[in-house]
Amino acid sequence: MPDRAPCLILIADVDPSYRQLLRWALEEEGHRVCEATDGDSCLRAIHGKSPDLILCDLRMPDTSGIEICRMIRSDQATRHIPFILIAEESDRSARLSAIEAGATDCMRKPLETAEMIARVRMIARSNALDVELRRQHRIIDNLLAISTLCQGYADASTRMFSDFGRRTGDLLRAGQVAVLLGRRGKPPEMLSCWPLRAHPQVMERILNSRVVGQILSDGAPIVIAADDSATQRRSGLNTGSVGVPILAHSGKVIGAIVAFETPADLDRDAVRILLTLAQRVGSEIQLRDHSERLEELVSEHSRDLVEAKEALETAHEETIFRLALAVEYRDTDTGIHLRRMSRFSTMLAQAVGLPQTAVSLISHASMMHDIGKIGIPDQLLRKPGKLTPEEYEVVKQHTVFGAQICEASEAPLLQMSERIALGHHEWWDGSGYPHGRRGDKIPIEARIVAVTDVFDALISDRPYKRAWPIEEAFEHVGKVAASQLDPMLVDAFLGMRERIQEVARELGESERTAR
Ligand SMILES: [Fe+2]
Repeated sequence: MPDRAPCLILIADVDPSYRQLLRWALEEEGHRVCEATDGDSCLRAIHGKSPDLILCDLRMPDTSGIEICRMIRSDQATRHIPFILIAEESDRSARLSAIEAGATDCMRKPLETAEMIARVRMIARSNALDVELRRQHRIIDNLLAISTLCQGYADASTRMFSDFGRRTGDLLRAGQVAVLLGRRGKPPEMLSCWPLRAHPQVMERILNSRVVGQILSDGAPIVIAADDSATQRRSGLNTGSVGVPILAHSGKVIGAIVAFETPADLDRDAVRILLTLAQRVGSEIQLRDHSERLEELVSEHSRDLVEAKEALETAHEETIFRLALAVEYRDTDTGIHLRRMSRFSTMLAQAVGLPQTAVSLISHASMMHDIGKIGIPDQLLRKPGKLTPEEYEVVKQHTVFGAQICEASEAPLLQMSERIALGHHEWWDGSGYPHGRRGDKIPIEARIVAVTDVFDALISDRPYKRAWPIEEAFEHVGKVAASQLDPMLVDAFLGMRERIQEVARELGESERTAR
């Protein structure tokens, strides 16, 4: 409100002749005037017309001027409006009360016209500065808020861009704000439209509007005034609008920010503000794109690494299996014992609740239990008859040889293989070999393989015996619980009879087919 710019001034006085007198004086100065005859109509006019200045008599019929002043000052929407109380010379204490209630000024009645005009000019000038200050504060507050929102654009969400649109809409007093991605000659894509409740047809109209097309094509700001209906018709939007391009660091247009339904008195800094915001949004969009690309690259590399690791693990497991198989062929005709041992040991480890990592390791390490037989002569391994005590002592050494083959490795698989190779012939009651360990002094993996090795040896053909029927094998395993084998493991093993029979049938069948 510049000091000589026309203001809307509310005159509140019960006396019509006095109102008329003030009206003439103020209109002569170029101001517009509205009137109120009592407190009620005064408050209605303040909220309905938003006057730039209020001249109010102390003695209103229903409410005193001081009370009206208090009500205006206690309302966030009206507290900033300059308020001049007009009171008789004799109402000195009332004038003081009015100042305490927040009145901008007090004037004596009857008014001296020249003095009243001079005071109105002074208040108008002061008020204009106040309005400008509040406008600048509002701009700074919104820019700060938008700047904070932009910090998260690297993982931008629709809600975040919607917040941006809301803040920008508030800043420019626009009805809608759209953030679009697009390049010259390519159809734009709506990144965000505020408010989100905008009808799809409205969004479609925005995307296809000449305003957007022109900004993306020319890379220059556009302002269409709220009262320029001819240009609005040509733009296809029928509203006032202001739009600016979003530029990449290279200077290429990558999108646009457009505010629609802009007011007739569009903020004179609108383009400047929007250009600043577009610069920031452009940086954040590029940052987000780079970030997404980076994530894709990391993801691709991670996938390659996982595949390479899986391939390495497969090759590693294959090597172990073939090594164990090479030893097994010296003892038996096929590798079926190894495969069944692996399956039974894995099932038993799962049944007794070993961690998944240990379960996974035992599926391979169990196949290495007899790896030490590589150091035992063929004539002993393949001897059809009973071994002499001396021969048996030699064969027992396969546990120690197996542990020596695997010892001092940092690989968890070989560490477990060492424990199994050394401990799979140790018995629960301490009567086993090579060290006569008992109970839980024997590693759990070795106790598991002891159960599955005894069972599978019974259901397999050997140079010195025929395979037992599976039910008899189950019965024998039950009998040696607590002497040879860990009774808790035997219970768990016998609790899986049906599944074990299925595996034995499956692997027995496949082996016979392979022969
Ligand atoms: Fe063995």
